[in-house]
Amino acid sequence: MAEYRIFHSPRLSGEALISTAKNAVLPIMAATLLTGEECVIRRMPSLSDTLHMQALLSDCGAQVRSQEDALVVRSGAVKSPGDEELLRTMRASVLVLGPLLARNGECTFSMPGGCAIGQRPIDLHLKGLQKLGAKVETEGGMIRVTGRLQGANIYLDFPSVGATENLVMAATLSRGFTRIENAAKEPEIADLCRFLVAMGARIAGIGTNNLTVEGVEEMHGAHYTPIPDRIEAGTLACAAAMTEGSVLLQNARSDHMRALMFKLAESGVIFQEDEKGLRLRGRARRPMEVRTLSYPGFPTDMQAPLMALTTQLGGLSIFLETIFENRFMHAVELNRMGAQIRVEGQLALVQGGKSLTGAAVTATDLRAAAALMIAGLSAQGETLLHDPACHLMRGYEHLEEKLQALGAQVRQEA
Ligand code: EPZ
Repeated sequence: MAEYRIFHSPRLSGEALISTAKNAVLPIMAATLLTGEECVIRRMPSLSDTLHMQALLSDCGAQVRSQEDALVVRSGAVKSPGDEELLRTMRASVLVLGPLLARNGECTFSMPGGCAIGQRPIDLHLKGLQKLGAKVETEGGMIRVTGRLQGANIYLDFPSVGATENLVMAATLSRGFTRIENAAKEPEIADLCRFLVAMGARIAGIGTNNLTVEGVEEMHGAHYTPIPDRIEAGTLACAAAMTEGSVLLQNARSDHMRALMFKLAESGVIFQEDEKGLRLRGRARRPMEVRTLSYPGFPTDMQAPLMALTTQLGGLSIFLETIFENRFMHAVELNRMGAQIRVEGQLALVQGGKSLTGAAVTATDLRAAAALMIAGLSAQGETLLHDPACHLMRGYEHLEEKLQALGAQVRQEA
């Protein structure tokens, strides 16, 4: 259980160092299972999701240790994970499936749980692995995947991030060529591919929707620094744009944030890119229309933080969530703060312009927690954010401390 007390805050100003991306680090950690040699992942963020992944790698037989700001992993003899609770805790656990199957020829684990934002099946993962020659058996909530993998042509019905990652990792040790069409091309996937290439993989089309992998006999260790977190940077940008701030997002990769930057710029925010990162000043003023899409479209992970901002913009803002089936639960909590949001299926209509008032609100998922925290900065009075499942620290490295350093009145109570 975590709890945060947030007060109306003046405009944010100063600098925030953007941490390494959770959604790049998690698949890269899983990829270390593909070799028996030592891998070093530098600039590790301290998040509960990365701690869970460390525990999962250990459960699979890897030796995992921290060394300054890096994680050192050596996966000698690996095996299927046995800790069911761990597998159900984090959706990204499914990412050990491809590496273990490729390395061992088999992987048995329990079907990962869904979560608040949706059912989140893994049918595309399993269908792709079957195309590579794997046999999939399910019994009593357990999945057993076996087989010596053979390169194949795979078409993803949907550009699933996790399925693309699992299939690329499995293909690196498959015999022959694998082509993945309609692959997701989020920056985190390109980062995973670069790590795999550093380990000796042969991958073409990195950063595109069509990936070609030529299987190799074995992979070797690698040292790697993953990309900065575009969602953390975007969340801080929304907080600054909500309070007419002047902020430098140090180390931010603006080339990974174009969709959000264009939305905020259309609304009145001024951006300046320089060698230190991304500067923004001024405030968003005009309402927005947002459709979440696979990359390079507007990222679904930014939908909740941006919605918090649009409650303060005069006029009607419209959100269409096309990626997850239930990702508007933060609207209920924002309405408790006086927002005027109406949800109609995958559409949310935000009638902005009315000041928010502080209230006791509850985080339902990671990005909802962030949205409520930044909403509290502009609300009149005090907001108490209950985070019973500690969602915020799953995916943000000390967000409240970074906001405090920018002048925000926020503190962790529990
Ligand atoms: C990744 O989740 C991210 N997580 C999510 O970030 C992100 O929201 C999502 O990609 C979309 O960008 C990590 O990288 C650890 P998907 P993932 O497979 O891989 C459906 C955050 O807040 N689908 O692209 O689970 C699925 O149900 C998290 O940091 C199938 O139907 O996303 C969902 O509706 C939240 N069958 C949609 O596709 C499948 O086999 C997107 O899923 C796989 C997915």
